Amino acid sequence: MKLWTGRFSKETDARVNDFNSSIRFDSRMYAQDIEGSIAHAKMLCAQGIIEPEDCEAILSGLGEIKAELECGKLTFPSDAEDIHTFIEQTLTARVGDAGKRLHTGRSRNDQVALDLRLYLRDEIPRTVSLITELVRTLCDVAEKNVGTVMPGYTHLQRAQPITFGHHLMAYVFMLLRDCQRLCDCLGRTKISPLGSGALAGTTYPLDRAAVAESLGLEGITENSLDGVSDRDFAMELLGALSIVMVHLSRFSEEIILWSSFEFKFIELDDGFATGSSIMPQKKNPDVAELVRGKSGRVFGDLTALLTAMKGLPLAYNKDMQEDKEAVFDALDTVNLCVSTFTPMIATMTVIPENMRAAAAKGFINATDCADYLVSKGLPFRDAYKITGAAVAMCVRENKTLEGLTLEEYRSFSPVFDEDVYAAVALETCLAGRRLAGGPAPEAVKEQIAKARKELEKYEA
Ligand code: ARG
Repeated sequence: MKLWTGRFSKETDARVNDFNSSIRFDSRMYAQDIEGSIAHAKMLCAQGIIEPEDCEAILSGLGEIKAELECGKLTFPSDAEDIHTFIEQTLTARVGDAGKRLHTGRSRNDQVALDLRLYLRDEIPRTVSLITELVRTLCDVAEKNVGTVMPGYTHLQRAQPITFGHHLMAYVFMLLRDCQRLCDCLGRTKISPLGSGALAGTTYPLDRAAVAESLGLEGITENSLDGVSDRDFAMELLGALSIVMVHLSRFSEEIILWSSFEFKFIELDDGFATGSSIMPQKKNPDVAELVRGKSGRVFGDLTALLTAMKGLPLAYNKDMQEDKEAVFDALDTVNLCVSTFTPMIATMTVIPENMRAAAAKGFINATDCADYLVSKGLPFRDAYKITGAAVAMCVRENKTLEGLTLEEYRSFSPVFDEDVYAAVALETCLAGRRLAGGPAPEAVKEQIAKARKELEKYEA
């Protein structure tokens, strides 16, 4: 049964019914739909728009429906038009005319906009807490590895010495910004559009602010067309979630590289790796690969919503029904990825010897050798050239900078002295980079402390 039968002389074609219906996915907002209706009904009563008895009947009917949906006594019929229609009709079937009064001064257009906002008000904090859990885990692993020397890379070529702790902390700060972005978006989501009606508000004396307040929202939309037409809070969320996935995908790519035989910087726990059906020796980083792969879904969700919205005239258009699947899929995907990624990180084994061995090769102390010459008074460009020539010789003769004799050093420049060995030792290179943000153990400890301090904000 449709809510809009009066004008029509024919039943909706079954194919259109299926095509139009959103109950399959919007049923997940049932609790928010009921919550919004309760707030609306109370306000209608307080404003003298409906009688207290009708309000009572609506509230108890909605409470009953919610309880029955939760215990499975009531289920969603697959041919219902959407969650709003289903709940209103179920209510009316139970409480009669009072149920028919619930929709006074309201349209499904402001109702659906409210429901999605309420759903995100509940869900965004869950995603944030999954990410902060990952951040906490990363800080713990980083703390154990502030002294674990590894090569830092640019262009995937060994570049300068860092530590594994320093590397992990880079992701910590990316993920903390993801949390900030999500919370920022949450602030713009917690705004009530109710009272916008279909598009032009309503003539009933609604108290919009009271509804917003009773729902724990922080304000009301200032323009009724905007209130029902806008989905930028959802686009913003998908943007923020896409960035989360970019971060997780890059991290995954590194996990995949590090766990390869070629790197062997880490070994994944057997519980977080998979085997091959044919190659008995294989241990595959499927979790990381799937996270990397699933990033595409979330970018797709963002693109789908941006594209669905970009040509729509104001106000509501049915195209906008597409918003929910994109939002739900992106949230589900991010939650799933983060909650599998965290224990993968917590259980992996770090192999410091291999990181150290990789750091010993690849001339990652060449910059420090040049800096040494600068400390002896040479201009940096000359120091750079001299060091380059020394490296070229090492490459030719399969040596390291640490392994050159003083005589060999002096063949490039007379300013080289015994103290060059201390200058190019990896520990010295690291310890020297103790400025804020650097890889020296004290600097990384400070980063960990800062990150943990920021985490406290999310604990309340
Ligand atoms: N199921 C619809 C949606 O998700 C609800 C709003 C319907 N409004 C309308 N005028 N057809 O967008």
